[in-house]
Amino acid sequence: MERKSWAFWPWRMIRALMAGVGRWIRPLLSRFERPLRAVPGMERRLEAEYAAVLQELEPTLKPYRDLPGFSRLPREGQSPEWVFQHLQTLAAREEARWRKGYASGAVYHGGPAHIEFLNRVYALFSQANPLHPDLWPSIARFEAEIVAMTARMLGAEEADEEIVGTVTSCGTESILLAMKAYRDWARETRGITQPEVVLPVTAHAAFEKAAHLFGLRLVYVPVDEDYRADVRAMARAITRRTIALVASAPSFPHGIIDPIHEIAQLAQSHGLGCHVDACLGGFVLPWAERLGYPVPPFDFRVRGVTSISVDPHKYGYAPKGVSVILYRGRQLRHYQYFAATDWPGGLYATPTLLGSRPGGLIAAAWAAMVTMGERGYLEATRAILEAAARIREGIRQIPELEILGDPLWVIAFTSKVIDIYRVLEQMGRRGWSLNALQHPPAVHLAVTLRHTQPGVVERFLRDLQESVAWVQAHPEERGDLAPVYGMAATLPFRGVVRDLLYRYLDLLYEL
Ligand SMILES: Cc1ncc(COP(=O)(O)O)c(C=O)c1O
Repeated sequence: MERKSWAFWPWRMIRALMAGVGRWIRPLLSRFERPLRAVPGMERRLEAEYAAVLQELEPTLKPYRDLPGFSRLPREGQSPEWVFQHLQTLAAREEARWRKGYASGAVYHGGPAHIEFLNRVYALFSQANPLHPDLWPSIARFEAEIVAMTARMLGAEEADEEIVGTVTSCGTESILLAMKAYRDWARETRGITQPEVVLPVTAHAAFEKAAHLFGLRLVYVPVDEDYRADVRAMARAITRRTIALVASAPSFPHGIIDPIHEIAQLAQSHGLGCHVDACLGGFVLPWAERLGYPVPPFDFRVRGVTSISVDPHKYGYAPKGVSVILYRGRQLRHYQYFAATDWPGGLYATPTLLGSRPGGLIAAAWAAMVTMGERGYLEATRAILEAAARIREGIRQIPELEILGDPLWVIAFTSKVIDIYRVLEQMGRRGWSLNALQHPPAVHLAVTLRHTQPGVVERFLRDLQESVAWVQAHPEERGDLAPVYGMAATLPFRGVVRDLLYRYLDLLYEL
C-alpha cells in the first residue's frame, strides 16, 4: 500500500538497526543526523514521510470538515442562537467519550452538577481580571485563599517557615516559575551564571521547557528498577553550578513517588533548592495518607523541600486553567515576580508569567475547593484509589502485561511479549484515549473520578483483555500508529522526531 510508504526506507532500515543495538549506541548514531539530512533529496523525502504519518491522524484531529467553519470573519455576525447551537453540536459529539470515562486523566471530576455549578460561578466573574485588584478585590482574595488552603493541605502548619505562593494557569507555568525563581536566586545570592538543575528522567517535560526558556542546563539521572529517582546518581550529579534538585509526587509517566525525603536532605546539605512536582498528586496524596495508604513524606513537612507545584485543575476538580506554586519563605517568591518600574504605561508588576488573567477561573477554582472540602477530597480519593486497585489487579491477571513499579492510581503497563503500542492502538479503536510512554515503551491510565462510575473499571479491563488477545491473534498486522510510536521512541535522530512534532502542531492549526 503506497500510503504506508513511511514504513519503508529509511525507517525500516533504521528500525531494524535499532532492534539490534543497545540504547548506548543511539547517542553515537545521532551524530549522523546532520550529514544524513544533508544528503540531497533527504529533506524532501522526510517531508513526505511526515505528511504520510500525519495523514493517519487527520480523521481523529479534523472530524468537523463537514460542518460550517470560518476562515474569515463573517460579514454579518451570526445570531447567538445559531452560534450556540453550533457549539452545542460540537460539544455533544465530544462529550460522551470523556464523560463515560474513556480518557486517561483529562477530565478529573466531570460530574454534571459539579460542572454546572462551576459554570455558574465562572459566569459571575467572567469579566474579572486580577490585573485590576482595585476593580476585583474579590479575585485577589480568592487567590490568597486558594494559596493558603493548598499550603495548609501540604504541610504548611508544620513547616519551619511561612509557606507562600501564587496562583498560575497550569502545572507547566508553576514549574517554569519555580525554575526561574531558583535561577534568579542562585544568580543573585551565589553568583551562578550557568545554572544546572538535577532531575530524574521521569520528571515532567515542563522542566525541559523551563531549561529552554530560561537558559538552564538539565542534568538527568536515571530511575531505579522501581522507577524512583536514583538519589546516589543525583548526589554525583551535583556541581558548583547546581541550583536545585527536582522530585515528583508522583511522576507523570509511571505514577511513582520519588524518594523525596532523601532528595530534600541532599538538597539541604548542599544548600540547594528542592522542587517537588506534585501537580498530579498534591490533591490526592494528603488524603491517601489519611486513608492509610503507604504515602512517603513528600510535602513541606519534609525539611529541605523548598517549593511545590500543585494543580487545582487536576485532582482539585477546578476548571482547566488553575495551578498553584508554593515556596518555603517569601524570599524565593520574590525571585518569581516581575516589575517594570519605568514604563510609560505606569508602574507594572505581575506575580506570574501572564499579564491579564481569567478571574472567572480563579473564582471557580476557589468554589471547587470550598465546595469539595476535606471530606469531599477524602471521599473522591477513596473512590479513585479503590478503582485503581481493581484496575491494577485486573492488569496483573493478564499474563502478557506487566505494571511498571508499584503505583497507586497512575498505572503504567508494558509487555515483554507483544507490542504495547499495538495494544494502545486497539484500545483506541475501542474508544479509549490512553497515554503512550517511551523509554521503556508503555501505556498509562491516570484513574480519575470518571473511572469510579459503575461498570467503567470492568469495561476497561474487558477492552484491555480483548486488545491484548487481538494483538496476539494478528501478529502480521503492523497497525497504523503503533509503528509510528515505535519509530518515534527508538529513532536516534531526535531532530527528525522534533520536526514531526512541529508538523503535528502545524496540523492542529490547519482548517
Ligand atoms: C507530574 C506533572 N507535572 C506537571 C504537569 C503539567 O501540568 P499542565 O499540563 O497543567 O501544564 C503534569 C501534567 O499532567 C504532570 O502530570
